[in-house]
Amino acid sequence: MAVSTAYKLSLANRPRRLRRTEAIRALVRETRLTPDCFIYPLFVCDGEGVRRAVSSMPGVFQLSVDEAVAEAAAARAEGVPGVILFGLPSSKDEVGSLAFDPEAPVQEAVRALKREVPDLLVMTDVCLCEYTSHGHCGIVDGEEILNDATVAHLAQAALSHAAAGADFVAPSDMMDGRVAAIRRVLDDGGFDQVGIMSYAAKYCSGFYGPFREAADSTPQFGDRRTHQMDPANVDEALREVEIDIQEGADIIMVKPAVPYLDVLSKVKERFGRPTAAYHVSGEYAMIKAAAERGWIDEPRVMMETLTSIRRAGADIIITYYAREAARLL
Ligand code: PBG
Repeated sequence: MAVSTAYKLSLANRPRRLRRTEAIRALVRETRLTPDCFIYPLFVCDGEGVRRAVSSMPGVFQLSVDEAVAEAAAARAEGVPGVILFGLPSSKDEVGSLAFDPEAPVQEAVRALKREVPDLLVMTDVCLCEYTSHGHCGIVDGEEILNDATVAHLAQAALSHAAAGADFVAPSDMMDGRVAAIRRVLDDGGFDQVGIMSYAAKYCSGFYGPFREAADSTPQFGDRRTHQMDPANVDEALREVEIDIQEGADIIMVKPAVPYLDVLSKVKERFGRPTAAYHVSGEYAMIKAAAERGWIDEPRVMMETLTSIRRAGADIIITYYAREAARLL
């Protein structure tokens, strides 16, 4: 059958007019991704010249302090403004003592980064799970994770990061009252200019699997359901965010990102605060794995994913893709 090219509709609206050329599409684009919004996670370990690949996260490494400095400097040169540090201590114990040791990898890395890459924004993850022998985020009594005793330790860890020179501390433990406790200890210690980015709505998620390999922080018994949030809840997320803001959080975070874009969008709309989303290890690993099989176009899916997080309301995106995305932008 011949196609009629002469047939014309009379239409008031032709949305396709705004999609005709790249120049027009760029003109009406609503969401812009820039490297300014990226924070790049780094895993820091002891030693020198160590660059150990994390098998479930292609492109991610456990780095000794010197290598972390090189990696951060390269990221900075590509336009990534900041990093968030996770530590791999040389030993672990019941209470995670090395979390607040001034000579532990994170504290050393903060000092080195501030010295070598002065314009880099340095954030630190504050949690005990990488430091405890049982892999839990806090002090345990039998199978129970104690809230208030844990908070006291977390505040000391945050203080040690601030003393090393961190710009922001980021508690990721989901204990009640930790933002207030950290704010107080920082202020008392003379660090009123050190900010808090709280993992405010952090869900108990299967998407953290690869991170636990990277950070060696898999719980040896039980799980994190008594402190991290139930994936089914959104009103509770708004409540958690509200509490953290009242306690003094400067930036609030939703984590993971893509499975929780509805939560992110509501948090941004409701509170209008600087809002971060963490595109977590499992989200990254899934894209990498599918790309390795040739099933998806990785750069395209990476950009679409990061754009969707931004569109949903994130001002800040914490992502293992920070360098790769910055290079493309
Ligand atoms: C520490 C922490 C975790 C992540 C960030 N901080 C792991 C967890 O809660 O088990 C996950 C990050 C990722 O998956 O990329 N509590």
